[in-house]
Amino acid sequence: MRVALVVATSPDGIIGKHGEIPWHLPRDLKRFRAITMGHPIVMGRRTHESIGRALPGRLNIVVSSRTGWKPEGCVVAHSPDEALRIAAESGAEEAMVVGGEQLYRYVLPICDTIHLTVVEGRFDGDARFPIEAIRPEQWAVERSEQWPSDDRNPDPHRYEVLRRLAPG
Ligand SMILES: NC(=O)c1ccc[n+]([C@@H]2O[C@H](COP(=O)([O-])OP(=O)(O)OC[C@H]3O[C@@H](n4cnc5c(N)ncnc54)[C@H](OP(=O)(O)O)[C@@H]3O)[C@@H](O)[C@H]2O)c1
Repeated sequence: MRVALVVATSPDGIIGKHGEIPWHLPRDLKRFRAITMGHPIVMGRRTHESIGRALPGRLNIVVSSRTGWKPEGCVVAHSPDEALRIAAESGAEEAMVVGGEQLYRYVLPICDTIHLTVVEGRFDGDARFPIEAIRPEQWAVERSEQWPSDDRNPDPHRYEVLRRLAPG
C-alpha cells in the first residue's frame, strides 16, 4: 500500500492555530475532498476533534492512545503504524495521512507522495508542518499549480504533487 500525505501549510510551516486551520480556502477544501475520497484517511485525535465528525465516503482512522474511546463513524488505532496496518487490511492501494503535526512528523520520512498546498502569507499558529524536511533532491514535482486570490479564496496559494525519488 502506498502512503500519501495531504497538507496545507504557510511557507514557514504553520498549519494550525488553537486547533483550527488559520485560513479559509474553499478551493483547497474541494481539492482535499477530491484527493481523499474513497481512500482511508489517517489522522491524529486532535485533527479528528477539530473536524468534529467522520468525513463521509472514506474510512476514517483516528490515532489515539485512549482506550475504550469510539468516535462515531471512525476506527481508532493506538499508533500510526497500527493505523496504516488497518488501512492496508482494508484492501486500499493508498492511505492518505491528513494531519495534524504529530502525524505529519511520523509519516513524512516514509510517505510516497505529498499533496502540498502552500498558502502565501504570514500566519500565526501553534501547529507546524516540518516543511524544511522536504529535501528537494528526494522529490519530483509532478504537478504545480498557482492559484491567485479571488472573491471566495482570499489567500493566493500553490498546489503541488510531490513523488518520492529516493528513500527517506
Ligand atoms: N493545515 C492542514 O493541512 C492541517 C491538517 C490537519 C490538521 N491541522 C491542524 O493541526 C493541529 C493539530 O495537530 P496536532 O499535532 O496538535 O494533533 P494531531 O496530530 O491531529 O493529533 C495528536 C494526537 O494524536 C494521537 N497520537 C499521535 N501520535 C500518537 C502515537 N504515536 N500513539 C498514540 N497516539 C498518538 C494523540 O492522541 P491522544 O492524546 O488521544 O492520545 C495525540 O494527542 C490543529 O490545529 C489542526 O487544525 C492542519
